[in-house]
Amino acid sequence: MNIVLGISGGIAAYKTPDLVRRLKERGAEVQIVMTASAEEFVTETALQAVSGRPVRSNLWDKEAEASMSHIELARWADAVLIAPATAEIMARLAGGSAPDLLTTMCLATEAPIAVAPAMNHIMWSNPAVQANRRTLEDRGVMIIGPDSGSQACGETGAGRMTEPNEIAAMVTALAQPSGGRLEGRTVVITAGPTREPIDPVRYITNRSSGKMGYAMASAAAAEGARVILISGPVTLREPRGVEVHRVETAAEMYETTHGLVRDADLFIAAAAVADYRPTTPAEQKIKKTTDSTSIDLVRSEDILASVAGLDDAPFTVGFAAETNKLREYALSKLEKKRLNMIIANRVGSDCGFDYDENAVEVFWPGGEQAFPTAAKTELARQLVSLIADRYDSLRDDGRSSVIPLEDRKKKRTQ
Ligand code: PMT
Repeated sequence: MNIVLGISGGIAAYKTPDLVRRLKERGAEVQIVMTASAEEFVTETALQAVSGRPVRSNLWDKEAEASMSHIELARWADAVLIAPATAEIMARLAGGSAPDLLTTMCLATEAPIAVAPAMNHIMWSNPAVQANRRTLEDRGVMIIGPDSGSQACGETGAGRMTEPNEIAAMVTALAQPSGGRLEGRTVVITAGPTREPIDPVRYITNRSSGKMGYAMASAAAAEGARVILISGPVTLREPRGVEVHRVETAAEMYETTHGLVRDADLFIAAAAVADYRPTTPAEQKIKKTTDSTSIDLVRSEDILASVAGLDDAPFTVGFAAETNKLREYALSKLEKKRLNMIIANRVGSDCGFDYDENAVEVFWPGGEQAFPTAAKTELARQLVSLIADRYDSLRDDGRSSVIPLEDRKKKRTQ
């Protein structure tokens, strides 16, 4: 497993010798590429000693280019990690500029890229930095952290580089997705809103952006799963390595899900499916001939409950989107829909839908865990890890209701 570790000029660069050690402990070969400003914070000598390879920093170093050019370096990498990633390096990556070896190599590589931002918390919340983060995330770059806590500048907030051990775990999973917790498992995930036509030009929908469901899909893929994402209409980029099926209505989502879920080990319903749809959509545009009107609605099929109710149901995880009584409503859905787990989040004008961050409470029969506010990408990684824990423990438990896919398939052919 070959990892290029790009180091940019932030105080957290002092943690990179430890990061190199953590990556090597996980079986990685590490090639370091430093920016000029990184050299202000950590020495080439220390990094060369821990990585066991000459450090690269200069695009115009003829000798180094002759032994491994920046293009060869880009091809050599199974993953590129930039840690710490400063606001400046994120801006360069987002803008596609390549004034140095590290950014040139990032443009030239087909390997997945991860960045671990580290900066003052006010810089991190600056709209320009957040816009760059979104651009990178939309392009499939894995953003690791940053964590919250006391910072080198003496202030407290979100901006600390994530701890080396955690970064190493994520990046080695990115470089070798086959070694993950869900290796060999198939996960079907629904995401985004549905659109229910009223007439050929109007529809009923909701405010879901798909961010949470897409983040769950990326996180499950990073854990080595084969991921099938059934997506309502959203504007997000398709996650790397995920099979995406696009649908529009709740009925299409229901059909597509049932066409695919029979071969799934796990089903995660993150979509905000319309609970009601117009009974008979008009064939022509409805004219405004009256002062008031009404639309006759009929209940949509509940996709999640129907999957959980299958004789040979996969491990089934629902989401609960609530404006109030989060715990009470989530527990009631867990029981009524006969789920293995439910992830409850508040939704409203200031949280939930379309936000980049989320906070959730997770419930399962006999247990619960709260996850404080974090980026949806980060939260998804934690949630997928918990789902993998629960899935494993149910499967190891003789009384499990979760039948392994192999056994379900055998049962069907009997
Ligand atoms: O997409 P984002 O902007 O990132 O926002 C994320 C989110 C808030 C949409 C997501 O985190 C979330 O909570 N998704 C579930 C939204 C929802 O419809 O919740 P619910 O409580 O109404 O439904 C409960 C569960 O039943 C959900 O898993 C839902 O997918 C499922 N359901 C509901 C109705 C239906 N007809 N079929 C279903 O499968």
